[in-house]
Amino acid sequence: MRTKIVAGNWKMNKNVSESKSLTLDIIANLNAQSQTRVIVSPPATNLATVADTAQGSKVEVAAQNMHQATSGAYTGEISADMIKSTGVEIVILGHSERREYFHENDALLAEKVNAALAAKLEIIFCFGEKLEERKAGKHFEVVKSQLSNALFHLNADAWKSIILAYEPVWAIGTGETASPEQAQEMHAFIRQTLTEKYGTAVAESVSILYGGSVKPENAVEIFSKPDVDGGLIGGASLKAADFIAIVNAA
Ligand code: PGA
Repeated sequence: MRTKIVAGNWKMNKNVSESKSLTLDIIANLNAQSQTRVIVSPPATNLATVADTAQGSKVEVAAQNMHQATSGAYTGEISADMIKSTGVEIVILGHSERREYFHENDALLAEKVNAALAAKLEIIFCFGEKLEERKAGKHFEVVKSQLSNALFHLNADAWKSIILAYEPVWAIGTGETASPEQAQEMHAFIRQTLTEKYGTAVAESVSILYGGSVKPENAVEIFSKPDVDGGLIGGASLKAADFIAIVNAA
């Protein structure tokens, strides 16, 4: 059985004290028996506080980004080791906002992936097509090339540390969700692509999350699809009640 995962990407929201209280609120309302992994991703300034707050609970913590170098003259950046030193063991890489606003491309992401794995960080790797690419019927091709360019240099063993998050760019923060059928179709394609490259054992063990306007109202239907193993949640992860409802949907 693949692990179900629900991860909340807080993006550039919540200061230190707000991050702490949201974390406490989530912990207080989580079903402790649930098999679903629950991850929250606060801004870098709040990683240590949230990691301390979540210690001993079901809640795991992820950074939203990191630099590919181990250290050096990169003003404003943070390294894998700095993330680990806060007690955090997961990093999100390749989010469409990083690709769009900070010009991250597949080649750079391959370097970041290598740096994160070298530091023994688990990775939530985001990818997905833009609206014009879907309209042009290129969405499968785009997704396949994002995966092969940034991840297919890895050996099979490295995939134990990779969680995939398919996030069609046209569905992020827009209120427009991929239909459960569109999500399933793409997730099945991703798993097939993994099977061709790495074989069934790897393909069947990798969790593939869906992201893009997941809400309590649509989560059950999306998560019920066989190749959807949970979600990466933006806007709806900023309110404990909504986030918990989505976790319960998984
Ligand atoms: P959204 O964001 O849920 O607000 O659409 C998803 C994401 O960017 O990961």
